Amino acid sequence: MNFETSVIHLAEKPYIDNIWGDVVKSIHLTSTYQLQDLEPMGHFYQRYDNQTREALEKKLAYSEKANYCLVFSSGMAAITSVIFSIITLNCRIVAFDDLYSVTRKIFNQVLPKYNIIVDYIDFTSDFEISKDVSLVWLESPTNPMMKMIDVKKVVKKIKESNPRTVVVFDNTFLSPYFYNPLDDGVDIVVHSATKYINGHSDCMAGAVMLNNQQLFEKIKEYRNNFGNALSPFDSYLVLRGLKTLHLRMQKHQENCIKVIEYLKTKSFVSKILHPSLCEKDNISANVRGFGGTVSFLVDFTPSQIRHFISNLKVINHAVSLGGVESLICVPHFSTHKGIEGIPYNLIRLSVGIENVNDIIDDLEQAFVKVNSVKV
Ligand SMILES: Cc1ncc(COP(=O)(O)O)c(C=O)c1O
Repeated sequence: MNFETSVIHLAEKPYIDNIWGDVVKSIHLTSTYQLQDLEPMGHFYQRYDNQTREALEKKLAYSEKANYCLVFSSGMAAITSVIFSIITLNCRIVAFDDLYSVTRKIFNQVLPKYNIIVDYIDFTSDFEISKDVSLVWLESPTNPMMKMIDVKKVVKKIKESNPRTVVVFDNTFLSPYFYNPLDDGVDIVVHSATKYINGHSDCMAGAVMLNNQQLFEKIKEYRNNFGNALSPFDSYLVLRGLKTLHLRMQKHQENCIKVIEYLKTKSFVSKILHPSLCEKDNISANVRGFGGTVSFLVDFTPSQIRHFISNLKVINHAVSLGGVESLICVPHFSTHKGIEGIPYNLIRLSVGIENVNDIIDDLEQAFVKVNSVKV
């Protein structure tokens, strides 16, 4: 079944997936299930099992070409559950040197309590990795510097050093529509499904997809015990959002490329960061698209940046990305506050699926107003 058909039909077939003939999965709210002969008949308790959640997991596993999927109450719930399922006391972790700031916070502020030190590597250059590394954490494009790596090449080198090293990849930015990291040898894929997968900025969700049954059972056990599974209502919202992922990703990307062409005409835009502009050597052959989020550097003072952002009328000034509406933020002052290496004049724009002329007109009228600000 092709991607577009699977996100619509899988796990929602009338009379196969439900006795009533519903064409849409319903929201199952029961918190507990009837036992029989002192034993569960199947489902046991909502923290472990839920029909709406399972329908979403079936669709998402297929979309990432994975055997298993688990959904969580946020991207960070998914990420921390994976980390805690793998780490052991004193183990070694290596991570890409540009990562979502809160993943980095877990590595730098939480793991040292367990005597675990995380080393950071720039995987865009030649690198060495030692055999005793238990976990490698990758993200590409990175948030917000949009660094790309050839995942296949990087994973091959890690596995040559030690085939047992677990490689995790955060695929939030490209989504399963544009890239399936398991194709390149990654062991576990994580997503902030809050972003493109749900796509409507109306719920938080996370997902983990993988093929290894032992790891799946371990992560599921952690989720059962931590109690951070996705609720039935939010599972329904993500199920609904997922059905248009392919259409939205195409439009996000189409609009983003047009916005990039517009930004290229502005002399005060000194750099544009987007996977479509990266060196081809740093992109896996399995990547099918570049996504709809772009970062760019402007030759503005902090007060000019404030003025520019506050004059936008269509584009919302808010963190997050991947929703149907365009969102803009200045990571240095918001998502990545206090993180080294994020310039104050870097702007991240998640290009929505509005009419692209309205997005460009909005940028233009706000840029024009910057001229009136002295410093
Ligand atoms: C790349 C990436 N991974 C993970 C997360 C965390 O996801 P959530 O906000 O759903 O917890 C984010 C959030 O911005 C992100 O950008």
